[in-house]
Amino acid sequence: MNILILGGGGREHALAWKLKQSKKVKKIFIAPGNAGTLTVGKNLPVDSTDFNEVKKVCVENLIDLVIVGSETPLVAGIVDFFHNDPVLKEINIIGPDKVGAQLEGSKAFAKTFMNTYQIPTAAHFTVNAENISDGIEFLHQQTSPYVLKANGLAAGKGVLIIHDIIEAEKELRLMIEGKFGQASSQVVIEQFLDGIELSLFVLTDGESYKILPSAKDYKRIGEGDTGLNTGGMGAVSPVVFADQQFMQKVEALIVKPTLFGLKEQNIHYKGFIFIGLMNVNGEPYVIEYNVRLGDPEAECIIPRINSDFCELMAATGNGTLSETELEIDERFAVTVMLVSGGYPGEFKRGKIVTGINNTKDCVVFHAGTTTDIETEGIKTAGGRVIAVTAKDYRLDGARSKAMANAEKILFDGRYFRRDIGLDLINYVAKN
Ligand code: AMP
Ligand code: GLY
Repeated sequence: MNILILGGGGREHALAWKLKQSKKVKKIFIAPGNAGTLTVGKNLPVDSTDFNEVKKVCVENLIDLVIVGSETPLVAGIVDFFHNDPVLKEINIIGPDKVGAQLEGSKAFAKTFMNTYQIPTAAHFTVNAENISDGIEFLHQQTSPYVLKANGLAAGKGVLIIHDIIEAEKELRLMIEGKFGQASSQVVIEQFLDGIELSLFVLTDGESYKILPSAKDYKRIGEGDTGLNTGGMGAVSPVVFADQQFMQKVEALIVKPTLFGLKEQNIHYKGFIFIGLMNVNGEPYVIEYNVRLGDPEAECIIPRINSDFCELMAATGNGTLSETELEIDERFAVTVMLVSGGYPGEFKRGKIVTGINNTKDCVVFHAGTTTDIETEGIKTAGGRVIAVTAKDYRLDGARSKAMANAEKILFDGRYFRRDIGLDLINYVAKN
């Protein structure tokens, strides 16, 4: 099989790395890819939102299967584009159609979907310029802190959690007036859920599903979960507080009704469902849906999947997922993200990366890297640069291996959080 992966981050490197291990894969193409994906496939300079360009490379390279890494092309309707094109409709594409992608693309759509299928989630109220006074009334019925979410895609920056009611009112007005552009012309106000967060990944072919390993993401830049939000500074899988009893509730109250709803609404969904969950005293609530794998969660969970990934993807596309087995490595995985100094604010690119060859007993995934044409060395090309994943039967073992290897990879301004997984180790010690 020839496979095209759309994207160029750590998640896409992890996908390409895993697919490369399958005997069923002939060629892997990554568009645009990075310096890491070059070692497992061929990079193509294609913008994944330019569907005609994507079509051209699919035809030129006899692609059988496309995996869409990020939400942007999905929300823009790439799956519908494939289905409506006489040539592309024969190609399996992993991801939901445009309506399904609204589960991530519109928070209001996702909330209505959850309410329709009685999926547990925070109480909410959707506000626009017309009903702002009703929104302020709802805000006053909540207790601090107040949660305000831009309805549309806002590059992970569209959620504000504010303690002061006056401040919350002010921010609500600013959002409606365009603080996050068109994305916040509608705002979802939510009840605050107090609990511990985890991410669950489900793979579905539209009929049946497989629950992939869970992961905990570390979103803030600073240790102890302080400072600005980032794309994700690290991950741990499995999540120790998601025990069997909790997972049974998640499956019955969330996964099954979600799949039922997708079918009932005739949404074409063959792909990953990323369910952001809050565990509130043992009860699961959905915080958000994403319609793809997470990044860096993918770098953490993919190395724990023992099954042939190409078979899983093909079965997802062909609708035969129920005939496949999913085998998971029972070891813990810890992923540490090395980022450029200044990230998530301003940062410099083009710093030389060294030391990757000195790592051992871990996997190194590239995120924002490119190859230096003159030296053939590696240079930084983004905020998140490298993800290091290590596995061990003990969580603290996986954690120390990941940290020790992260330490060996060097570039000017390099920063990483040294506390990834510590909270879970402390949780185990206490419970
Ligand atoms: P989202 O983009 O919806 O995932 O929100 C970003 C982050 O804000 C989440 O990962 C949570 O940490 C937090 N968050 C979102 N909604 C809520 C809520 N209703 N209660 C508490 N925290 C929330
Ligand atoms: N790590 C969170 C995300 O991929 O959205």
